[in-house]
Amino acid sequence: MDFVLNGKPAQVAPRPGLTLLQALRNELAVNSPKYGCGQAQCGACTVLVDGEPVRSCVQPVEAAAGGSVTTLEGLMRDGKPGPLQQAFIAEQAAQCGYCTAGILMTAQALLARKRNPSEAEIRAELDGNLCRCGTQNRVVRAIQRASREA
Ligand code: FES
Ligand code: FES
Repeated sequence: MDFVLNGKPAQVAPRPGLTLLQALRNELAVNSPKYGCGQAQCGACTVLVDGEPVRSCVQPVEAAAGGSVTTLEGLMRDGKPGPLQQAFIAEQAAQCGYCTAGILMTAQALLARKRNPSEAEIRAELDGNLCRCGTQNRVVRAIQRASREA
């Protein structure tokens, strides 16, 4: 099964029960999406499929067939953190970091859709991305910074 992963061709042999998250982490060595709940409840595994955030822990890998998958690694620019990642660094918006890749991918999709989202819109969009470390306010500031600097 073929798809595009962070701009490059990727191939996975699908098998029953193989999720997109398992394929990314275990077969393609893309480790930014994290396994949190495994039940589409926490957002740690969020990646973009054709630009839309999906919970890769519950997506069969076949859902990406022929499509384009973007993970945190795909937000890099010329080997360096891209603009949204730089804003998260500047605002020190990660603590343990377990939730961070999923939050960044959700934020990336939001900013692609809406260049200057309000604080309320940012909070609503990230409602399903849980952070046990309490970085939420810094995350909001980082996304606002990224939208200002875009
Ligand atoms: S691990 Fe996928 S939503 Fe929690
Ligand atoms: S930074 Fe630790 S869970 Fe969010």
